[in-house]
Amino acid sequence: MGRLDGQVAIVTGAASGMGAATAAAYAREGAKTVCLDVNDALGEPHAKSIDGEARYQHLDVTSESDWADAITVCRESYGPPTILAACAGIGAGGPIADTTLDDWNHVIGINQTGIFLGMRAVVPSMVEAGHGSIVNISSTDGLQGGVGQLAYVASKFAVRGMTKAAALELGEVGIRVNSVHPGFIDTPLLGQARGFGLDIDAMAARISVLHRMGTPEEVASLMVYLGSDESGYCTGAEFVIDGGMTAGYNAGTFYGTVPETLGG
Ligand SMILES: NC(=O)c1ccc[n+]([C@@H]2O[C@H](COP(=O)([O-])OP(=O)(O)OC[C@H]3O[C@@H](n4cnc5c(N)ncnc54)[C@H](O)[C@@H]3O)[C@@H](O)[C@H]2O)c1
Repeated sequence: MGRLDGQVAIVTGAASGMGAATAAAYAREGAKTVCLDVNDALGEPHAKSIDGEARYQHLDVTSESDWADAITVCRESYGPPTILAACAGIGAGGPIADTTLDDWNHVIGINQTGIFLGMRAVVPSMVEAGHGSIVNISSTDGLQGGVGQLAYVASKFAVRGMTKAAALELGEVGIRVNSVHPGFIDTPLLGQARGFGLDIDAMAARISVLHRMGTPEEVASLMVYLGSDESGYCTGAEFVIDGGMTAGYNAGTFYGTVPETLGG
């Protein structure tokens, strides 16, 4: 008996990282799963490799017509979607003064408008099904600021707020909406940060209370919980998965190691 038996899931960003792990976990737990991404070269073989009922469909989250096609494919293949896992997103960095309007619009378009279009696309089908769970991936950058991250932080705070607004509206029709806030998770997205010359592994080891990065599979476990009826009383809530990074000041980040007097 799978934890998502009888569910129909659509997962964006399903070609890589957390989306790929989430799609695999959903199908393994019994959900009929449509994997959506712009990267067909990675997404198509990943969907084929999944153990369970899954198929791939091209989708750019910023395209209204791609969303309409995705819903049609889902309904024709598996029925109306009852879970949306919105994992697609891009990283972005740079000083405010160097951020062009095009840079800004690109990040907001994918990370924020993409979330709006996704929620809007699935609601009619979820109303028809009589229930639904929408899980939007934000970030710890949706809870606090980050240096050189203005557009990214703006997009991730927006996802957190949009999730709450949607939860208030959609609870009436049996649809739950929650946001997930990962810290450092070991995915290709961090490759971009490494490209800026940041030592992400050292940062994660120092900032996380658990002294390591998280894995996409650990995030997928949370996504399964939020997609399933096990989280039936959760809506409009923020689920942080960051190895304790936002819990408070970690003495180790100031002293290099935790002093003996503090238990280090
Ligand atoms: N990795 C981290 O440390 C971290 C931390 C916090 C939040 N996040 C967020 O988690 C989400 C997943 O990121 P990840 O780390 O798995 O990254 P990833 O790069 O491994 O995966 C992101 C996927 O989104 C897809 N994508 C990009 N633009 C798209 C578009 N316009 N339409 C459809 N798909 C598109 C990419 O092709 C890719 O497959 C993102 O929203 C990211 O901002 C990541």
